[in-house]
Amino acid sequence: MNKKLLIIANWKMNPDTEAEAKKLFSGIKKKVRGSSSMVVVCPPFPFLSSTSKANTGDGIFLGAQNMAEEERGSYTGEVSVSQLRDMGCRFVILGHSERRALGETSAIVAKKIGVALKHSITPVVCVGERGRGDNEGHLAFVRDQVEQSLLGIPLPALPSVVIAYEPLWAIGKDAQREATPEEIEEMIIFIKKVIAKKYDTGKTPDMRFVYGGSVSPENTESFLSIPVVDGLLVGRASLDASQFGKIVHSAEKFVSKE
Ligand code: PGA
Repeated sequence: MNKKLLIIANWKMNPDTEAEAKKLFSGIKKKVRGSSSMVVVCPPFPFLSSTSKANTGDGIFLGAQNMAEEERGSYTGEVSVSQLRDMGCRFVILGHSERRALGETSAIVAKKIGVALKHSITPVVCVGERGRGDNEGHLAFVRDQVEQSLLGIPLPALPSVVIAYEPLWAIGKDAQREATPEEIEEMIIFIKKVIAKKYDTGKTPDMRFVYGGSVSPENTESFLSIPVVDGLLVGRASLDASQFGKIVHSAEKFVSKE
């Protein structure tokens, strides 16, 4: 598999207006031009159309932040996989902790992954513990999330699945702190073992693992230096074209990493 780094911008419920979204997208476009990483921008649903139109061969991939678990039908307020495809989306973030907090279970995430894969959209599946105590409860928690979120996903499909490790305590403006490279490395190696065991493959299938939580231009290199990290999921810093541009720029020296 081509292991280009994956740098994903999660705009969450920002910005407020289409005009601001257009401005942010064109700013990001300018900053990341020529990058060797795969850059994915995930705007809110209402701005997918205008960002898609503005995305003319600049090497940026479009992604959504959520998707309906059903392929079609009477589901008020939901957005379907075909609608995302039609907007040009190639990626979808699934099971973000902010969606799990609204009641999205790993079983729902598993169903959504299946639907995304069926329509050739790459799911970026978020997992991560709420907190860390003295025992190893966080490992068991993430193991369960990974096993249940991948329920029913066949082994040959795994190379098209991205796992994002996002510990909740490291996310957003209330973050305690970013995770340390040691914590991230330990958890991603652990997740790889969980997947290898689940699929009884001996070694982890070839798939991408990214880290998310308080990523900034200042800490990008420390995260991308971790051999098992294939990219980053960026929240707040993706709302500032110059900050996000710096993150993508810092990734340049890691692009040849296999
Ligand atoms: P943050 O958010 O970079 O603002 O911490 C990351 C995320 O929630 O995906």
